[in-house]
Amino acid sequence: MLILGIESSCDETAGAVCKNGEIISNVVLSQVIHKQFGGVVPEIASREHDSQITSIIQKTLDEANITLSDIEAIAVTYGAGLMGALLVGLNYAKGLSIALKIPFIGVNHLEGHLYASFISFPNMKYPYLCLLVTGGHTQIWEVQSPGNYVLHSTTIDDAAGEAFDKGARILGLDYPGGPEIEKIAQNGDPEKYNFPIPKVKNNPLNFSFSGLKTALLYKFRELSQDEIKTNKRDIAASYQETILNTLLRQLANVITLTGIKQISIVGGVAANKRFREKADILRDNSNTEIYFPTAEYCTDNAAMIAVAGYEKLKEGVYSPLSLKANPNLALNDGAIG
Ligand code: KG4
Ligand code: ZN
Repeated sequence: MLILGIESSCDETAGAVCKNGEIISNVVLSQVIHKQFGGVVPEIASREHDSQITSIIQKTLDEANITLSDIEAIAVTYGAGLMGALLVGLNYAKGLSIALKIPFIGVNHLEGHLYASFISFPNMKYPYLCLLVTGGHTQIWEVQSPGNYVLHSTTIDDAAGEAFDKGARILGLDYPGGPEIEKIAQNGDPEKYNFPIPKVKNNPLNFSFSGLKTALLYKFRELSQDEIKTNKRDIAASYQETILNTLLRQLANVITLTGIKQISIVGGVAANKRFREKADILRDNSNTEIYFPTAEYCTDNAAMIAVAGYEKLKEGVYSPLSLKANPNLALNDGAIG
């Protein structure tokens, strides 16, 4: 079965084709216009999606060496994300579905991130733990079976990706902040500065990142311009290290709590190479299997949407044309299964 996947929930306009669950094309356009504003401007994101989606889908089909008439179903993100941005992809998919007389299926973006693991590791078995780390979410889920998710941990304020983005802004780096911090941190000393690992009183398994961002801001105010210039790489490395240590510490706690030894780490922050190195240490110490999708499937893409859609379609699940975009969709809302 040939499925066209479409993703437009934030600032990536993306298309992918999967053939019986295997990705045969994957095209992502990241909207660079937001860099000048230091973050995504929703109205501009919608307009950019609108002007680019047709050419991105054409490119996706060309890369797969097929035409629109070969497509048998369309999978599209309908939430979570920015309302205007979601509407562009969702309406485009509905239009294609009507014109081509083929089914379409709405996919939860977060569930798409989860399914990215299966692109790289098709034989992953249930149950497993999933650390979902994006620009808007930082959560640890127990994935018991397809569509059955139990939440063990979530952030009470900023997401880890947001901590990277806000930290980068303080450091005078571009948006998105994660890859920028990672780049300069490569030659920095992660032990030089001590940032507090944030703790959450009521639920010790939860995350909190807003205090860390404030600690970075205070550090910046404390240092002279010269000190900042000379030590920027060390500050970035120490800040990154604290975010990653926090993520891995909570993951280790949930592993201990559940006894589940198979882990996937997904979402944009999972593209971070230092994260992967550090996870190797946890893997060895806790005798676990830790799977990261390849980096192109960690940051927003349509391949993960096409594959999640394929799993739904195999179960005979389709969406009605009345399906509405839902900016606040949670992972366990309308899950597969
Ligand atoms: O999953 P994603 O592409 O979009 C959302 O669904 O939010 O995640 C975007 C987030 C951004 O905050 C970005 O700074 C972060 O992922 N990110 C990274 C890296 N690449 C993207 N964070 C750390 N290291 C990276 N290499
Ligand atoms: Zn995402």
